[in-house]
Amino acid sequence: MSDATPTQTATPDSKQNERVPEPCIVVIFGASGDLTKRKLLPALFHLKQQNLLPEQFSVVGVARRDLSATFAADMQDGIIKGGGVDAGDSTLKPFMDKVKYFATNFDDDEGYEKLKAFLADLDAQFGTKGNRLFYLAVAPEFFADIAQRLAKHGMTKAQADGHFVNVIIEKPFGTNLESAKKLNTEINKVLKERQIFRIDHYLGKETVQNILVFRFGNGIFEPIWNRNYIDHVEITAAESIGIEGRGPFYEAAGALRDVLQNHVMEVLSFVAMEPPDSFAAGAVRVEKLKVWKAIDPIPVEDTVRGQYAAGTVDGQGVIGYRQEDRVNPESSTETYAAMKLSIENWRWAGVPFYIRAGKRLAKRITEVTVVFKQPPLHLFKGNADDSKVQPNILKMRIQPDEGISLTFGAKIPGPTTNVKPVEMHFSYADAFGKSSANGYERLLLDAMLGDGTLFAEREGVETTWALMTPILEAWAANPPKDFPNYEAGTWGPACADELLKKDGRKWYKL
Ligand code: BG6
Repeated sequence: MSDATPTQTATPDSKQNERVPEPCIVVIFGASGDLTKRKLLPALFHLKQQNLLPEQFSVVGVARRDLSATFAADMQDGIIKGGGVDAGDSTLKPFMDKVKYFATNFDDDEGYEKLKAFLADLDAQFGTKGNRLFYLAVAPEFFADIAQRLAKHGMTKAQADGHFVNVIIEKPFGTNLESAKKLNTEINKVLKERQIFRIDHYLGKETVQNILVFRFGNGIFEPIWNRNYIDHVEITAAESIGIEGRGPFYEAAGALRDVLQNHVMEVLSFVAMEPPDSFAAGAVRVEKLKVWKAIDPIPVEDTVRGQYAAGTVDGQGVIGYRQEDRVNPESSTETYAAMKLSIENWRWAGVPFYIRAGKRLAKRITEVTVVFKQPPLHLFKGNADDSKVQPNILKMRIQPDEGISLTFGAKIPGPTTNVKPVEMHFSYADAFGKSSANGYERLLLDAMLGDGTLFAEREGVETTWALMTPILEAWAANPPKDFPNYEAGTWGPACADELLKKDGRKWYKL
């Protein structure tokens, strides 16, 4: 296997013209799925619009059904509707001319031989030099098999020094520690770790990346970013949508596997990590790993789960989880999970991190809420409004209305000293304009460039699974008796409030 990788582009703020990848073909397995149309093709087109794709380029969708007649038109529709692109954009047609389709079964060896020849023809046509980015947007049970068949048919080796074959693997990466280890072992048999890009699309979000810039690119926050000044941290990934027709997937997953173990733990690592030496993949990953490794085993008493009943979301009546299509009417799957984590290192010992994720909640909000310690209230004693002296709160809104705000107490104008919390606010849209990017742009680009900074690596995935697996086992051994325990359109089950209440705290209102 060749060790060749393209030049690594390490810094997120490198000049754009330094970040154009080498000529290549992006090959998407599972291209008939929603992700390709809604996210991947629009993201690739956005890169094209910003001149961040090489001229010598092609995209090949691979799936079982024969969609050759309709694939390109369908993808163009996705780019226009999902990508907010003007149908008359003059760069659309030349881009679409490079979008191709190849039908095969994922376990058909002959199909891989034909695919190899198909890609070689495209190399000749477009000058893509044998470089490949394979994207496995398929059900997890196919990940290892596809990687191994690609290897068997000689498609995982870079053709020469300076060339590359990289592979993006979608989530979920395993369903517990054992399965994640097994998957890693299978994939590592045929791919070097640096060829593997385990994607977590949260890391493609500007606001998640901005956590590091906010913390390490400003002088005033880092000195107070620790247990001396911070009381606790909350991370919420709330969704108002339900399971969107994904019954069988969600029944086997649940909120913990679907969102907490990956998206929320990634965000947590950015909030809690020590400054890395650089933004290079190795340096960032080491610091993330240190955070996860410093988390104490999570007692099951510090976890709660919930499942939604029918209710009203955005003024619309919605059915309960157990009534959703292809869901067991007595399902024990959690659509909400929350827990308290303790990071036992010098920076964070004694500062609880409360994390929660759920479906069919009151609104869609992903936010990090950093609650600072309460100032001494002596000065305000006896003041009618002394309860209004609140701790400072820093909110990093990941989505929607991306931004950062800081609340602090201000004197209410008048002859007495009454205090009211007010908010200082930074909005991404106001500062930089509204963006139609969906987060996959950066990740696809990085994977073409061989930059793994924003991707999960083997040990990281296994470490977060090692933390979560005992909880999943304890939950499975003790099925919930109170499901469904929250109404759709609310903020989750009462036990989630109890979790903070026993520490004398409450979830901050979002
Ligand atoms: C996916 C989960 O990984 O993330 C979905 O499988 C969830 O269940 C989605 O809805 C949330 O992503 P976003 O970007 O909409 O917050």
